[in-house]
Amino acid sequence: MVTAGIEAATEPSSLHLREVCKTFRRADGAEVVALDRLTLDVAEGEMIALIGPSGCGKSTLLRMIAGLDRPTSGSLRVGSQPIDGPGAERGLMFQDPSLFPWKTVRRNIETGPAARGVLRSHRGEVDEYLRLTGLEPFADSYPHQLSGGMAQRAALARALINHPKVLLLDEPLGALDQFTRMRMQDEVVRIWRARRTTTVLVTHDIDEALYMCDRIVVMTPRPGRIERVMDVTLERPRHRNDPRFLELRAEILEMLHFAGDEPAEAEGVAS
Ligand SMILES: Nc1ncnc2c1ncn2[C@@H]1O[C@H](COP(=O)(O)OP(=O)(O)OP(=O)(O)O)[C@@H](O)[C@H]1O
Ligand SMILES: [Mg+2]
Repeated sequence: MVTAGIEAATEPSSLHLREVCKTFRRADGAEVVALDRLTLDVAEGEMIALIGPSGCGKSTLLRMIAGLDRPTSGSLRVGSQPIDGPGAERGLMFQDPSLFPWKTVRRNIETGPAARGVLRSHRGEVDEYLRLTGLEPFADSYPHQLSGGMAQRAALARALINHPKVLLLDEPLGALDQFTRMRMQDEVVRIWRARRTTTVLVTHDIDEALYMCDRIVVMTPRPGRIERVMDVTLERPRHRNDPRFLELRAEILEMLHFAGDEPAEAEGVAS
């Protein structure tokens, strides 16, 4: 979770990306076009997934929305506000939960409110998140004493307690075993439904995208572009073995050239 030490926002907000380009210069001097004129609108309270092969610019895009990097050209806005640096209204969670190893679970979750000087009035909320994420018995444990799933839940609570308008999740469940991962997907959806925080989820897992998100943005690499945006019209709660779920899954696999005899161009995308 990366935030600046300013007062956190509470309401979700829309996200607007216009003609966003990002070019990197490699060590050998060659230019890499990571993103090419990417335009996307995410509605208030919507959860979208970004999927696509390794290197298509998903993390680059998330870092720019987080304000950790700037586009070469184009614009990014949260609501009507241009993004020009990190801010507490945008929470970012990486694959690695990156908890502070010297802080207990409780102190990790308290990080944002403590930095903003509002911890006293947020103590009740810290307790609520500990309960919500099932971490009450581990409140006084240190990160090295937690399982991977517990650490992820602690990182999620630490991100959510700042009430971000936009939550940016970069493969947040990638390190988990399948069983824990499915439980965490339910957890994130449950919290998202309660809070309706606008969420951008980067994942390599098509089932995860279908299970959790309202829309799936499929990207292609070199240069990173949007190939297609798919509405996931399945009712919630969703079921992984629903025939319509399986149909949509096949459609995405087809799009990523995994389904037929074509070579698997989409390296790094799990089926
Ligand atoms: N700081 C950087 N300097 C140079 N090139 C970079 C830098 N960051 C990213 N790139 C390049 O930009 C492209 C997009 O990288 P990015 O990390 O956004 O991909 P990704 O879609 O997140 O991939 P993955 O699924 O493997 O995480 C890649 O070609 C990468 O090599
Ligand atoms: Mg990435």
